[in-house]
Amino acid sequence: MSPLAANDTRFVVSDDLARDLAARFGTPTYVLSERILRERASRFVSAWPGDVSFASKANNTWSVLKIAFSEGCSIDVASEGELRAALGAGVPAQACRLHGNNKSLQELTFAVNQGVGKIIVDCFEEIERLKELSPLPVLLLRVAPGVDPKTHHKISTGQADTKFGFAVRDVEKAVARCRELGMPLAGLHCHVGSQLLDAEAQVAGAETLVELAVRLKKEMGFVTTHLNVGGGLGVRYTNGDEPVAIEDYCRDIVNAIRTGLKGELDPELGMEPGRSLVAEAGVTLYTVGAVKTAANGRVYVAVDGGLSDNPRPALYGSKYDLVWHASSQGTASHTVTVSGKHCETDTLFPDVQAPVGLQAGDLVQILSTGAYNSVMASNYNALPRPATILVREDGRTQVVQVREQYESMFVRESVPEDL
Ligand code: LLP
Repeated sequence: MSPLAANDTRFVVSDDLARDLAARFGTPTYVLSERILRERASRFVSAWPGDVSFASKANNTWSVLKIAFSEGCSIDVASEGELRAALGAGVPAQACRLHGNNKSLQELTFAVNQGVGKIIVDCFEEIERLKELSPLPVLLLRVAPGVDPKTHHKISTGQADTKFGFAVRDVEKAVARCRELGMPLAGLHCHVGSQLLDAEAQVAGAETLVELAVRLKKEMGFVTTHLNVGGGLGVRYTNGDEPVAIEDYCRDIVNAIRTGLKGELDPELGMEPGRSLVAEAGVTLYTVGAVKTAANGRVYVAVDGGLSDNPRPALYGSKYDLVWHASSQGTASHTVTVSGKHCETDTLFPDVQAPVGLQAGDLVQILSTGAYNSVMASNYNALPRPATILVREDGRTQVVQVREQYESMFVRESVPEDL
């Protein structure tokens, strides 16, 4: 790839550090920059006049949660497991917001008993599950605003045809039911989709929420005191991606909300960035294990990870920028396809440029892998999940998640004695 543009905020590990980390910790390894993570979190906290909740589904490494919290973010958790991760990282339950569609009674009970700060209710069944629990925290209704975010269909959530949240026509009924049960319903939430490169779709989602809030006040006397527009801001995966700046994004959404509310309501505003906080703060390091030319002439470069540590190319056709650390000094490059080590066609990066003369033992780093990589990693082909190294602000490098050990990988096994 060509050198980073001036406004390109992605973390890139230097050649020396890449070699040092690979030698000390092995590969594949996720590497995170504390500095970039803190910078992005604090930019959101400054630009957004309300609650910035880091969507921990993007990366729930405890150190990441701790950094986001220490920069002033609350933590959005989408399951009991994510809530346990936040608590483990030392985040108070009060600073956590419980999400998720189809939350179980067990999850809700755990969250309420821990004292979770907010619950975003996804369906009528959850209202009925919650009525048994106390003391209930502030509740928000998740609304499907009917906005098509024009992003990958697998990460679109706000359109009319969705499993998430209440259809707009059902919101009055849900409000009425919560009131009938005397629940502390405080407002509305929506999330339109992910990897949005501008604010358009989120503005549209916010406008729908605002219209609804105004209508609920007029028709039912329900006063919205919390309004949450979800996450979604995209990141630079490749040089061609140009996401708007955090500050511009937040400003456009806030302006749309204030214009729509016309001073009739003054809710606390919430936002839930995940990817845009952590993706660009992370890279993945791999070691090249083989370079071969297929019968049709395509050059394959095999690395020591793949589908199990980054399923995004296979799931969404995601593209990334690569930085090579080759032992050969030449500047000539040619087109190769980077494949993983799994027993299937786990093409990671098709038709990318790589140095001529690349050989086994050389390294490559993949940029912008801080979000939705370690959390989506699996043990396919019984590969241990990678370690995560944090590059501290003063340059120290610390393991914040160890490489999975074979012993812990097999702890769930239980073979019946008479088998
Ligand atoms: N809030 C809610 C309710 C969400 O469902 C999501 C993401 C977020 C916040 C954070 O969105 P972000 O700011 O990260 O775009 N595995 C997919 C992404 C799925 C996102 C699901 N929801 C991927 O790798 O692209």
